[in-house]
Amino acid sequence: MSASMSVKKIGVLTGGGDCPGLNPVIRAIVRKSVLVGIEVVGIKNGWKGLVDKETVALDIQSVSGILHRGGTILNTSRTNPYKKPELLEAVKRNFKTLGLDALIAIGGEDTLGVASKLVKEGIPVVGVPKTIDNDLSETDYTFGFDTAVNIAMESIDRLHTTAESHHRIMVVEVMGRHAGWIAVYAGIAGGADMILVPELPIDIAEVCAAIHKRHKRGKTFSIIVVAEGAEFKKGEYVSQDKKLDAFGHVRLGGIGEVLAGIIEEKTGFETRVTVLGHVQRGGSPTAFDRVLGTRFGVHAVDLVRNGEFGKMVSLNGNKIVAVSMEKAVEKLKTLDMSLYEIARIFFG
Ligand code: F6P
Repeated sequence: MSASMSVKKIGVLTGGGDCPGLNPVIRAIVRKSVLVGIEVVGIKNGWKGLVDKETVALDIQSVSGILHRGGTILNTSRTNPYKKPELLEAVKRNFKTLGLDALIAIGGEDTLGVASKLVKEGIPVVGVPKTIDNDLSETDYTFGFDTAVNIAMESIDRLHTTAESHHRIMVVEVMGRHAGWIAVYAGIAGGADMILVPELPIDIAEVCAAIHKRHKRGKTFSIIVVAEGAEFKKGEYVSQDKKLDAFGHVRLGGIGEVLAGIIEEKTGFETRVTVLGHVQRGGSPTAFDRVLGTRFGVHAVDLVRNGEFGKMVSLNGNKIVAVSMEKAVEKLKTLDMSLYEIARIFFG
């Protein structure tokens, strides 16, 4: 389909981990669609909803009052329809039986990876990038990231006062999968004394040296931010378990606890660990994420109307542009190391 006005009915789904800003996107898609006479069907629970044909009609009333709400009114899952041929068949069949002209998939690497494969099979899909991790290529930022960073920054602020009172080392473990974006942004904003990211192996001697340097100049506390995907030199990921999700990703988390133990043993300073976990994904989106989500939602409907399937809306500088969805999921957008060099000035 390419003609703009022939789109009458579209589906929208949210897949993968939830993140603040999803509801503003859904609201924007519905509001813009209604304005131009397109009917919107909400598909529940990510790709699972298309497999099970679980849907909900979306109109102005159903998206009223959701702008400020975290999570997603459509719910989500990490279902991968490419896991089994019968799941994929169901997706294709239900797309037809629901009478959809196009689909808007809101998600990260995995959800958009599925979307871009479906486009090759003739299903008209456009993508909206979502992840707190900010690790999607072809876009400067994803919504959810700013909220996660602000939550982590506020936590670091709070940890400062208790760390200082007790002369303790505080290790703060943040999310981000295999990219250090949240760690570096939250670390710089929160004034961390050391930031450890997946892009660089952890050098424990360097960590301890920074702590000692602070003590020498009279600071008896330190804040160490560690990204969940950071690894020790020549080490393995430290994972709570080795469970894999439907897309084959290992569940991360646990590095903070191990690191805190090593720091305490090596420096002799009392050390505590805080794992921020899913708190970073919960609650109300920041103004930045609400605005970005709204802009993405409106532009996604424009892409559908222009027949630009296989494309993803993206933030480039302060402009919303259309980029290739396939390229966006091709490789991870790892940390811009010039940011790490800025953070490094404040270590120790
Ligand atoms: O991708 C977003 C993210 O929050 C990662 O930062 C984290 O590793 C992962 O999802 C956690 O996933 P789950 O919701 O399955 O615990």
